[in-house]
Amino acid sequence: MLKVQPLLCALGVLATAQKSIESERLYKNPSYTPKERAEDLLKLMTWEEKVGQLGGARRLFSRVDGKPSFNETALAITLETQNGQIGFGSQLNYASEVLPLANEFRTAQLNNSRLGIPFITVTDSVNGIYPAGGTLFPGTCAMGATWNIPLYREAVTAIRDENLALGVKWVLSPEVDLARDPRNGRNGEMYGEDSYHVGEFATHYINTMQKKDENGYVKVATTIKHFVFGQSSGGVNTASIYGGINHIFNELGAPYIRAFRDANPLSLMVSYATVDQVPMPSNKYMLRKVLRGIMGFKGLIMSDAVAIPHLYTQSKVAKSATDAGLKALRAGLEHELNPAGTAVFPTLINSVDDAEVAHMIDEAVRAILEIKFATGTFDLPLPSVSELNKTLRSDRHLEINRNVSRESIVLLQNDGTLPLRANTTRIALLGPYADVLNSGSYAANNASEHKYGGTIRRSLEQRLGANNVKYKAGVDVISTSTDTSGIPDAVAAAKKAGIAVVVVGSGWSSDTTAVAINRTDGEGFSHPDLSFPGMQQQLLDAVLDAGVPTILVLSGSQTFLLNDSSKRSRAILTTLIQGEFTGDAVAEILFGDRRRARSPVAYDYFPSDEQGGFTGTGRFDWFWPQLTRYAPLRFGFGLSYTKFEFSAPAIARRDNTTVTATVTVANTGGRIGKEVVQLYYRPAVTEIEFPVMKLVRFVKIELAPGESRQVSLSVPIHELGYFIDAEWYVEKGLYNFWIGSSSRTEDLLPYNITLA
Ligand SMILES: *[C@@H]1O[C@H](CO)[C@@H](O)[C@H](O)[C@H]1NC(C)=O
Ligand SMILES: *[C@@H]1O[C@H](CO)[C@@H](O)[C@H](O)[C@H]1NC(C)=O
Ligand SMILES: *[C@@H]1O[C@H](CO)[C@@H](O)[C@H](O)[C@H]1NC(C)=O
Ligand SMILES: *[C@@H]1O[C@H](CO)[C@@H](O)[C@H](O)[C@H]1NC(C)=O
Ligand SMILES: *[C@@H]1O[C@H](CO)[C@@H](O)[C@H](O)[C@H]1NC(C)=O
Ligand SMILES: *[C@@H]1O[C@H](CO)[C@@H](O)[C@H](O)[C@H]1NC(C)=O
Ligand SMILES: *[C@@H]1O[C@H](CO)[C@@H](O)[C@H](O)[C@H]1NC(C)=O
Ligand SMILES: *[C@@H]1O[C@H](CO)[C@@H](O)[C@H](O)[C@H]1NC(C)=O
Ligand SMILES: *[C@@H]1O[C@H](CO)[C@@H](O)[C@H](O)[C@H]1NC(C)=O
Ligand SMILES: *[C@@H]1O[C@H](CO)[C@@H](O)[C@H](O)[C@H]1NC(C)=O
Repeated sequence: MLKVQPLLCALGVLATAQKSIESERLYKNPSYTPKERAEDLLKLMTWEEKVGQLGGARRLFSRVDGKPSFNETALAITLETQNGQIGFGSQLNYASEVLPLANEFRTAQLNNSRLGIPFITVTDSVNGIYPAGGTLFPGTCAMGATWNIPLYREAVTAIRDENLALGVKWVLSPEVDLARDPRNGRNGEMYGEDSYHVGEFATHYINTMQKKDENGYVKVATTIKHFVFGQSSGGVNTASIYGGINHIFNELGAPYIRAFRDANPLSLMVSYATVDQVPMPSNKYMLRKVLRGIMGFKGLIMSDAVAIPHLYTQSKVAKSATDAGLKALRAGLEHELNPAGTAVFPTLINSVDDAEVAHMIDEAVRAILEIKFATGTFDLPLPSVSELNKTLRSDRHLEINRNVSRESIVLLQNDGTLPLRANTTRIALLGPYADVLNSGSYAANNASEHKYGGTIRRSLEQRLGANNVKYKAGVDVISTSTDTSGIPDAVAAAKKAGIAVVVVGSGWSSDTTAVAINRTDGEGFSHPDLSFPGMQQQLLDAVLDAGVPTILVLSGSQTFLLNDSSKRSRAILTTLIQGEFTGDAVAEILFGDRRRARSPVAYDYFPSDEQGGFTGTGRFDWFWPQLTRYAPLRFGFGLSYTKFEFSAPAIARRDNTTVTATVTVANTGGRIGKEVVQLYYRPAVTEIEFPVMKLVRFVKIELAPGESRQVSLSVPIHELGYFIDAEWYVEKGLYNFWIGSSSRTEDLLPYNITLA
């Protein structure tokens, strides 16, 4: 791109290309370790060059007149003071348009870099690659809802290879926050509410992404995040949380501890949250003592976007932006993520005379250089558009995506109306989310752009013929809308068809219009009243009041209150954060080609939460009166079109080291189907309060009608412990176990065992 070169020269910052650096320098030699190479390079760097590595420009490209162009402001900042990494900017740009520009930028920058230190490309990657043109997978919560680890690994492999083809060597995932607050607009980016389930998915994500190539380079580095985040004030993503050290070690921190044990995430992002009154970006105790010291995290620690300036502008724990930068550095932050404008870390250049600061900057630079060396960023050739085109949306990736989409939809209620009869030829398809591909905040999808595959409307039209699907939105997708004028038409269509599929929800994606602004789902949004935004409940109620058999389809990742009125629906499905084949998968499920199943209200509460006081009308329950702990929909729950029966479990101890639970699962229904076998436990007596039960293993199996299979789940006894003041403790004595198809009492078979 013509603009790059003049700008580089005009800035004059990287102008003196000293080609005199001997090409045989150790750091240029791939046979040395990343650590050795980083150490060698560090010795040659000026302070300006070092500080430059501590940040980057997140939004290198804008989208102007339907095509990508360099964002000149971002470009200038990147070249001047934030030279560590780049991000792509607008998600609406196509990958094949962006790659040549990114390559050109890389070449120009390398031509002018004294030591030849390349940028590394870092992007978010939730539903797939960050810009448009890749395979659009369902969001993380939908992946978690598959409970299918082998399938998930295939999906992550596809996402990894599409990122690699685009030159992305570092992603800002996995997100291991626990979806414990139903109001949080970001729950769709999380795997779910349970720390074991989340840790399991995240560990497989990291190991798959970071798999080494044939030359020993890490394919794509990962960022485990957001350390540490849980139930925040008001359900707001950036708000404060409580969390004592036991709670952090046993719950919020458990997926990290698991991932550090079984995988090695090369970086970690610190949360926006203030934890126990200390904002995480300046939380020296949590980062240096707990994360580094006790949990043993070895990789790079980065801030979340604009979180360091927040210490000054929002939390008021710093006197100035520079003071905020110093506090963050002292707390252990090594990299500043900064999507827009000038960052704080470049001002550290004024403090390099202070030996303590200089030492910390060196540590931080080592950390990013090691990632660059480990991922082959110095050594590997730039990716080509032709290779990119071959990789993106390959037949295999699309097939994996179809399989994931089918297993990520959860059937929550069914009176036998589903599957629809084969002779169903007409349906009324109602609701504003029926014709929206609701792919969440981080998808490269403009949801009104029909290039991106199936909305539920398009998939049903393909199946039944456009004339046989009577589509009426009925009400607006905008949460602030009060317009009910479309409801009578929608009800009339329902009566005429004799059956209605009503698709309601919240969210929608990276569109920048008023619709996106007036949403309740997505990063930065909260969903305090748990109802369907806008007039959607009114639409649903009107159709149900008319007596038309109704199938309710939920769209988006929020927890919706299904009140008694909504539960009059004959069947209820939830699609969570959708991918490009979710619409097709819904059509398949409605007509019975497929099946299966989860629900987010924490099942693993503490025994003391059982009390809650008595009133004249009954007991208080949970934080949200509508979301009872004893709800029919609990964690791990999902219905099927077939029936499974579990035999009485046998739980055996082996060699005093392992507990094995064995059960025979039989498909006693008439269809092939998949079931998730789940093992829960608690030590009968503990030193500190232990949840009423805790998931400890799961596996998903497929059975043909009449088939049965013995399933064994084994857990090392050492894993049955818990932390007290950060020390691991394993009880002896009586343990309660439960094995079954969900965390509901009626779906579980209890068994006790005494462990010596
Ligand atoms: C980089 O340098 C090479 C060789 O000096 C030159 O051919 C090429 O045009 C330069 N590229 C850019 C983008 O500056
Ligand atoms: C361009 O980059 C600047 C600085 O990062 C940012 O503030 C601005 O929003 C970007 N503009 C566009 C159109 O993306
Ligand atoms: C890559 O794909 C894009 C979009 O389909 C197309 O415009 C471009 O010509 C292709 N380029 C190559 C080199 O195959
Ligand atoms: C997708 O699922 C089908 C049916 O279970 C299976 O035969 C196929 O191998 C799967 N494909 C991939 C790529 O996992
Ligand atoms: C559709 O099939 C069911 C049996 O599966 C039958 O009871 C019903 O009458 C059929 N409806 C029509 C319109 O043919
Ligand atoms: C999204 O796509 C639609 C249809 O192509 C287009 O009208 C709209 O401008 C796009 N929105 C953005 C933010 O690009
Ligand atoms: C979006 O919400 C704002 C604030 O409630 C309101 O002023 C605006 O009219 C809404 N936009 C639309 C299109 O409803
Ligand atoms: C269900 O919720 C809607 C909207 O909040 C409310 O209007 C309706 O009365 C509720 N119905 C029942 C039966 O609780
Ligand atoms: C298991 O533990 C018991 C009690 O500590 C001990 O007597 C027994 O020898 C142990 N068995 C094995 C196989 O280690
Ligand atoms: C298991 O132990 C608990 C006490 O922790 C007891 O209440 C329960 O009845 C026992 N269950 C079985 C199946 O033995």
